[in-house]
Amino acid sequence: MISLDITNTLAKVVTPTRGIPEQEFRTMENTIKSYVADFNTECEAGGHEWAKSPYDEEVISAVESYVTSIQHLPIETVLWVGIGGSGLGPRVIKEVFENVNSPELIIVDTVDPAVINEELKLVDWRKTLVVVASKSGGTLEPMSVFFLFEQKIKEVLDEDAASRIVAITDPEDGVLKAYADEKGYSTLPIDSGIGGRYSVFSPVGLLAMQLLGADIRAFVRGAQEMDEICKSSDMGENLAAQLAMVQFLLDTKRNYVIRVIMPYATRLQSLGRWEQQLIAESLGKTEAFGPSPMAGIGTQDQHSMLQQWMQGKRNAWHLFIREDEKEYVQLPDVEVESLSYLSGKGLGQVLDSLYEGTAQSLTAAKRPNATITLPRLDEYHLGQLFFMFMTEVVLLGKLYRVDPYGQPGVEMGKKIAKKILGAS
Ligand code: PA5
Repeated sequence: MISLDITNTLAKVVTPTRGIPEQEFRTMENTIKSYVADFNTECEAGGHEWAKSPYDEEVISAVESYVTSIQHLPIETVLWVGIGGSGLGPRVIKEVFENVNSPELIIVDTVDPAVINEELKLVDWRKTLVVVASKSGGTLEPMSVFFLFEQKIKEVLDEDAASRIVAITDPEDGVLKAYADEKGYSTLPIDSGIGGRYSVFSPVGLLAMQLLGADIRAFVRGAQEMDEICKSSDMGENLAAQLAMVQFLLDTKRNYVIRVIMPYATRLQSLGRWEQQLIAESLGKTEAFGPSPMAGIGTQDQHSMLQQWMQGKRNAWHLFIREDEKEYVQLPDVEVESLSYLSGKGLGQVLDSLYEGTAQSLTAAKRPNATITLPRLDEYHLGQLFFMFMTEVVLLGKLYRVDPYGQPGVEMGKKIAKKILGAS
């Protein structure tokens, strides 16, 4: 089970003016308990559809059957066309699970012609699967690129191209499902009630994992177990509630308006960006308050951002994410005397000591930080992590009094762009 250590956010460690006093935390517990109860009742009444995805046997089996059905094809590359939630979740999955034996998963979340042109030069369409992931089927970026890829793959494979295209989309709403059906492409569903940033347990995340040979059953099992924990009224146990309380109190009572999400695991670099979207699009809906998420990465940002975090404005708190068990890579004997302490050390030890250095120095500077630890970075624990973050955001929606679903603020820009391009 993943764990959360919030000790360094508490007043007893970082002083009462800069951290959360025990009393404040206890008072908050009653509020959050009632929100957890509301969340549970709403789920039972059919709300928060994303939370049911890890139990959706029909969809999970459909993903497995689809991948089995294309196993005979010589697929070496998957071009995954999708943006926002339809691209960020798969990108995390690519970074964690892609390996020498799996196909290469290329996330295409851009319309930059220079990048697309380069891709077109490199791709071997005979060994490629095109996945278009767009819940609405109307998003400019993936749909433009998809039509281009569709034309190119048809030029090479003619009618066989249909077997190399799969659309992940809303089965009821939008144009993509109807288009895919008409052309004979396979489709997998994102249920109407599941928004992009909550879709990682739908085929958006599951297909990416299954194509890479990862264990989707362990992924959803991790989510289901975290679901149980997030339903608990025991605040010592409920990780999503604990994290939501820390976030809310640090922001609203101590003015730490920025939440830095900083994995000390390069394979989790994109998780920070995924979380950034989850928080920004879910909670950024009122001028009055709300956290500003910032994706960081250890150890690299020690050499770019840490100076400001240590001595600059006191407006950021840090959420570190680390994995306990790491691969063992041992350093040789080092001849340079001043660096000889590195001799025989594991690279994981070096990474851990740098994480400790950052966490301890921020704590010494009375700057709050918390740490999530994954025993191992695998399907099961990643499933727990995703599920915990999504539950946390829903609870934060209740605390901040905003609807965590929808993103009305981004619609105007989309409409203007479509109008510029000639849409009626
Ligand atoms: O979280 C969301 O719903 C959005 O960020 C979407 O993921 C993004 O706009 C892409 O939408 P679609 O999947 O409909 O192409």
